[in-house]
Amino acid sequence: MSHIKFYYGEKFPLEMHKVRIVQKLNLIPIEQRLKAMQEAGNNTFLLKNRDVFMDMLTDSGVNAMSDKQLAAMMEADDSYAGSETFMKLQSKLTQIFGTTYFLPAHQGRACENILSQAFVTNGSFVPMNYHFTTTKSHITLNGGSVVELYMDEALHITSSHPFKGNMDLKKLEKFIAECGPEKISFVRMEAGTNLIGGQPFSLNNMRQVSEICKKHSIMLVLDASLLADNLYFIKTRESACQGMSIPEITKAIAAMADIIYFSARKLGCARGGGICTNREDVYIKLREYIPLYEGFLTYGGMSVREMEAMTVGMDETMDENMINQGPQFIEYMVEELRKKGVPVVTPGGGLGCHVDAMAFVDHIPQGQYPAGALAAALYIVSGVRGMERGTMSEQRDENGTETLSNMELLRLAMPRRVFTLSQVKYAVDRIGWLYENRKLVEGLTFAEEPKVLRFFFGRLKPVSDWQTRLVNKFRADFGDSL
Ligand SMILES: Cc1ncc(COP(=O)(O)O)c(C=O)c1O
Repeated sequence: MSHIKFYYGEKFPLEMHKVRIVQKLNLIPIEQRLKAMQEAGNNTFLLKNRDVFMDMLTDSGVNAMSDKQLAAMMEADDSYAGSETFMKLQSKLTQIFGTTYFLPAHQGRACENILSQAFVTNGSFVPMNYHFTTTKSHITLNGGSVVELYMDEALHITSSHPFKGNMDLKKLEKFIAECGPEKISFVRMEAGTNLIGGQPFSLNNMRQVSEICKKHSIMLVLDASLLADNLYFIKTRESACQGMSIPEITKAIAAMADIIYFSARKLGCARGGGICTNREDVYIKLREYIPLYEGFLTYGGMSVREMEAMTVGMDETMDENMINQGPQFIEYMVEELRKKGVPVVTPGGGLGCHVDAMAFVDHIPQGQYPAGALAAALYIVSGVRGMERGTMSEQRDENGTETLSNMELLRLAMPRRVFTLSQVKYAVDRIGWLYENRKLVEGLTFAEEPKVLRFFFGRLKPVSDWQTRLVNKFRADFGDSL
C-alpha cells in the first residue's frame, strides 16, 4: 500500500500482498440471520462464526499471517524449558524495542493480570490516556482505580486532530500534585487507543509523559498491543518524525517506557503476548508470576509455533507497507460512509471503522444500549458482525447503577490483510441502507447480566418487535437478495 497515484483520480488503497490461501464464507438469508441473532441473545460475541459473513468483531488473533510466518511455524523448537524458539523471539524483541528482558504470557490480559498483581495496591491509582476493558478490570480487581487523563478532543467524534490518543499533560501534572506520586502504581499509555476509535498518541506526547513520570519517579507502562497502527500514524501525521524509519520510531517510543506489554493477537499477527523491560528489578519481581499463571519462562502459555510466527510477525511490523494496510482500508471505509452521511469517528484510526451509535440511533436512550442495538441490527441486515463499544462494555458501579459510557460506538474491526475492498464496499452499502432506515432500530435490555465483563457473555432482548419490522423492510427493498 505504497503511495500510488491513479490516472483517473479515484483514491483507494492498493494491497501490497496477494492472497494464497482462502477461507470460504457463508452469507445466510436474513430470516436465518434474525434467528441466529435471537439465539445469540442479541450479543454479537455469542454468534456462531458459521452464521457470520464478514467477521468485524475484532482484529484480535484473526489477522492474516504471511507465508513467512506460516513457514516459520514448521521450525518450532518444542521444549518445555530453554527452547530455541523462545531465544529467537527474545532476541527479535531486543532488536526491535531495545529491551533486555522478555517475559512471555499467553495474551495481553495475562500481562495485565501480572502487572496489576505486582504493582496495584488497595487505594492506588493508575493514570492512563484511556482505559481498556480488561486493563480496567484487572486494576480494579486488585483494589486500584483507573484515572483517565485524555485530552478533551479524544471524545469529539468528528475531529481533525491527528493524535486524539494523547494524554493531557496538564491533567497529569495536576493529578500527581493532588494525590502524590507514591499513590500511583504506574502511568499507562495505550498505543492506538482502542475504546476511542483506535486513535494514536504522538511521539512528542509520549516523550513529555515520560519526562513527567521520570521527574516524579513513577513507572511508565506502554500497552503496545495496537502499536503497529500508532507507528503508521506517527510516521504519516507527525511532521517531526517523517524523516524517521519505522524501526527508529519504535525504538524511540520503547526507550521512554519502563515496561512494554502487548497482545500478540494484535501486534505481530500471531497469538500470544508478553512483557519487555530493561529494568532488572521489574523483571525479577514479575518473573515469579509467569510459572504460576502462564507457563515456564520460555513459553508462558504460548504454543512454540505461535512464538515462531510472532518473531517473524514482529519483524514484518517494521515494514511500512505492511502496517499501512489496516489504517488505509479503514480510512477508505470511513470516507465512503461519510459520503453517505453516516456518523463515524474521524479522523479514521487504526483497528477498525467506528460508527457513532449515539448519533446513528439518537432516539435510543443510553440505558438501552444504542451501540449494542446497532450491532445486532447490522448483523441482521448484512451478516457483518461488529462489536459494541459503549455502555454495555462498562460495568455497573457498586450500587448497581449503570456507568454510562462517554461514547457509544459500533466498532467494525478491520483484521489486517483479511478482507478485500469489495467486501468493504458491501459493508458500506448495508450500513448506508441501515442508516436510511435507522428509525426502525430500537433498544435492548439485559435478560441475563453477568457481573464482570458482561459484554462477553451477557444475553439481551429487544424492547419491542423492531427486529421483525427491520427484516420486513429489508425484504421490501432487497427482494430475494441475501
Ligand atoms: C489495547 C489493548 N490492550 C490489551 C488487550 C488485551 O489483549 P488480549 O485480547 O490478547 O488479552 C487488548 C485486546 O483487545 C487491547 O486492544
